[in-house]
Amino acid sequence: MAILGIETSCDETAAALVADDGEIVSNVVASQADLHAKYGGVVPEVASRRHLDLIAPVIEEALSGAPEPDAVAVTTQPGLIGALLVGVSAAKAFAWSRRLPLIPVNHLHGHVASLYLRPLDLQPPFTCLLASGGHTMLLDVTERAGYTVLGTTLDDAAGEAFDKGARLLGLGYPGGREIDALAQRGDPTAYDFPVARVPGLDFSFSGLKTSLLYKVRDLPAAELERRKADLAASYQRAIVRALVERLEAAGGGHVAVVGGVAANSELRAALPDAAFAPLPLCTDNAAMIASAARFVHPVAYPDYLSLDARATA
Ligand code: KG4
Ligand code: ZN
Repeated sequence: MAILGIETSCDETAAALVADDGEIVSNVVASQADLHAKYGGVVPEVASRRHLDLIAPVIEEALSGAPEPDAVAVTTQPGLIGALLVGVSAAKAFAWSRRLPLIPVNHLHGHVASLYLRPLDLQPPFTCLLASGGHTMLLDVTERAGYTVLGTTLDDAAGEAFDKGARLLGLGYPGGREIDALAQRGDPTAYDFPVARVPGLDFSFSGLKTSLLYKVRDLPAAELERRKADLAASYQRAIVRALVERLEAAGGGHVAVVGGVAANSELRAALPDAAFAPLPLCTDNAAMIASAARFVHPVAYPDYLSLDARATA
């Protein structure tokens, strides 16, 4: 049995074929990052239109030379509503025309399920940090079909903090990778950034962003240019510290990290015993959606034609 996964919740148009044992047969991701870079962030309407251009060729590429899928999985929530609708419509059309079942997948479950793909094939139980551009959550995972939310961000997501920080530093979009690269050349102890300690297991990153805003504003242009790597390194250190502290507060046991921010080199180094999704599976992709679909009830043909996309989780 093979599942065709489709993912269009943000600015990646993705399709993948995954076998039911978690083996990735194909995994195609068309990133729109270049298209949105000139705006400094994702423009929803621009993303939807580009998904429309890309979705058919991306699916075609994922299926070229591969066996016919037995089911179609698609991200139905959360995400940009117009972007999600392109994937959901394509998935319905593909499944309906072949009389296949359709499996609706929550994008966050998809990120966690990136850990269930081979060769990693991680087995619960574990505590999972999900840190992406849209979400930052601490999850208690006891089975592959789901999870319990232990904590979430009260304001910005960790990836959003990276992206906004990069923008303040005049770096490109998406900002996480840019800060990660620049920080390699900087001193992480050069500047003091606040690590928010909110009650319970929640996160907060908005104070950190404001702190960077003030530091950037107070530096003369030439000095800012000279200290950019130090600022990036210190800022990244504060985000990583906040994430690691919360994971430690969740207490012992096996730990795993998923989502775009899981690609961060300092975070990976700070948690040597944690399981990380492989780099290409940290940022949005469709293999993780097909992976999650293995643990979700399929909707039989043709009952899914009325299935809707939802912007919220
Ligand atoms: O999971 P993802 O592709 O999309 C969402 O579901 O949001 O995550 C994208 C986020 C962006 O905010 C991006 O800046 C961040 O992941 N990111 C990184 C790195 N690579 C991507 N953040 C820190 N370090 C990185 N190396
Ligand atoms: Zn994501």
